[in-house]
Amino acid sequence: MPSFTPDSHLDLLFAPELIPSDVQAQLGSDLHMRPLAKDDLYRSHLSVLRVLTSTPELTEEQYTQAFNRLKSCPNTYFTLVIINRATDQVVGVGSVFMEQKFTRGLGVVGHIEDIAVDKSVQGRKLGLRIIQALTTISERVGSYKTILNCSDANIPFYEKCGFQKKENEMARYHNTSSNAAATTAALLPSSLSERPLHTPRL
Ligand SMILES: CC(C)(COP(=O)(O)OP(=O)(O)OC[C@H]1O[C@@H](n2cnc3c(N)ncnc32)[C@H](O)[C@@H]1OP(=O)(O)O)[C@@H](O)C(=O)NCCC(=O)NCCS
Repeated sequence: MPSFTPDSHLDLLFAPELIPSDVQAQLGSDLHMRPLAKDDLYRSHLSVLRVLTSTPELTEEQYTQAFNRLKSCPNTYFTLVIINRATDQVVGVGSVFMEQKFTRGLGVVGHIEDIAVDKSVQGRKLGLRIIQALTTISERVGSYKTILNCSDANIPFYEKCGFQKKENEMARYHNTSSNAAATTAALLPSSLSERPLHTPRL
């Protein structure tokens, strides 16, 4: 069984100091919260996301390119994971990304996405800890609010995390395959496809 890999041995998406120490302390000694690492493909990152939605396998190259794209946008993408220290595997994951607006005096909004906790550890308040950490990060990097979409079934969970229902979600799905990102990249000139999606300096 692989042994626990300390943060200092990993290529991390963002500075681990941004993870609130009080949230880390409440996790339990068998668990560790840290930013996503470049090689978390091999720590069951995608398997954990499958409790949430369709998450097809990725090659190491695809995963690394996606990681690099997120990391090339400073202060924008914050994906964190909870690691089971005994197995060095991901058991929880969540993201917040920062949107620069022109309203509210160049206000910034944090969007929480893709919260998932492995079935084996659901009910241990890990979902709550992930939301607490992401909300704190969102606030620390300057957002005036943090928002998210969820199913009706998950409203009670997010209310327990301190969120309240506001307005409605609208969606329009497009007829694209799961490898749309790769297709888009192939259509773009290589210099463009290498560029980050956004380059705000917050
Ligand atoms: C939803 C999810 C993230 C919750 O994570 P979790 O670690 O199991 O939940 P927690 O232990 O942190 O729950 C915190 C509180 O919310 C409650 N709660 C959790 N999920 C709930 C639900 N679906 N309905 C009602 N209450 C819920 C818990 O009972 C707990 O309440 P308590 O403080 O009174 O004991 C997890 O169940 C999951 O990954 N589900 C599948 C993927 C998913 O739906 N993700 C959310 C996408 S919007």
